[in-house]
Amino acid sequence: MRILVAGAGGLVGRAVEEHCLAQHDQIFSYTHETLDISDTASVSTTIEQVRPDAVINCAAWTDVDGCEIDSARAHAANANGPENLAKASRQCGAVFVTISTDYVFDGAKEGFYTQRDDPNPISVYGSSKLEGERRAQRALARAIVVRTGFIFGCGGRNFLSTVAERGRRGERLKTISDASGTPTYAPHLAARLRELVELDLPGVFHVVNSGDGASYEQFTRAALEVGGYDQTNLETVTMRSLNRPALRPANSRLKCLLSEAIGLEPLPSWHHALSDFISSEKKTQTVTQG
Ligand SMILES: NC(=O)c1ccc[n+]([C@@H]2O[C@H](COP(=O)([O-])OP(=O)(O)OC[C@H]3O[C@@H](n4cnc5c(N)ncnc54)[C@H](OP(=O)(O)O)[C@@H]3O)[C@@H](O)[C@H]2O)c1
Repeated sequence: MRILVAGAGGLVGRAVEEHCLAQHDQIFSYTHETLDISDTASVSTTIEQVRPDAVINCAAWTDVDGCEIDSARAHAANANGPENLAKASRQCGAVFVTISTDYVFDGAKEGFYTQRDDPNPISVYGSSKLEGERRAQRALARAIVVRTGFIFGCGGRNFLSTVAERGRRGERLKTISDASGTPTYAPHLAARLRELVELDLPGVFHVVNSGDGASYEQFTRAALEVGGYDQTNLETVTMRSLNRPALRPANSRLKCLLSEAIGLEPLPSWHHALSDFISSEKKTQTVTQG
């Protein structure tokens, strides 16, 4: 397949590129520098030139506090961006997948959020992503929206990489006790995104690793335990004590009503994914130190 990946420099973008290359796809990767998805003309010209079978949008402005301060930039990247890509995909007959977030929900629910729950974002980031979902769907009936959350994976700066690195160095670490989500391993998400491209079934999917979800604290403790790192340097804090500009949902655990109904296997448990991640982080560390 000819697959165009937008946001290829990010955590998920890199995982998608790696997975699709392993499937022998022809990949056309664009980073923020090479394609700004908020630029309607560039998006249209690029997709017209490449004429891909599928477009996978991994680009977004993911700085949740930054979005709260600069809502115009948040909407340009997270709402206009998916709309531009969806319109250009329609013009060349490509399947379009765009990634959204668990932060479209307000967190007031106790259980898992499914597609039956009404989104009600409590941050600019969440509203801009929800707007992106809706604009993509309006622009292209064939659009596939994938909500996910608590993503971890190798390379770059992400929450669990920091945990693994500080755990290894025995450094002090802060973790939040009152926010829960469903951890999602970037390589597993990448594989599911490609499966969804092949199925070409439009709609909203929730894609996360299996299990009951976890608070950041539980997730951090599990990572330290799997890595064999000391937990005494772990300081537990509440969301409010951090006094950040943007609100985050206290609960954003996701479950999908559709995946199994269309024959997709549940993704492995996040505990299993975490072990994979910690051992590959350790291998990378050994290689760079060796
Ligand atoms: N990470 C999570 O826990 C999480 C949770 C739920 C949903 N998601 C969603 O998952 C998707 C992938 O996120 P990620 O974790 O891979 O984030 P990431 O590592 O921050 O990657 C996002 C990429 O998008 C690029 N980008 C930003 N604005 C852009 C624009 N206008 N045009 C083109 N590229 C742009 C960024 O480049 P620069 O850094 O150079 O600006 C970055 O390389 C996003 O849709 C995000 O909302 C992530």
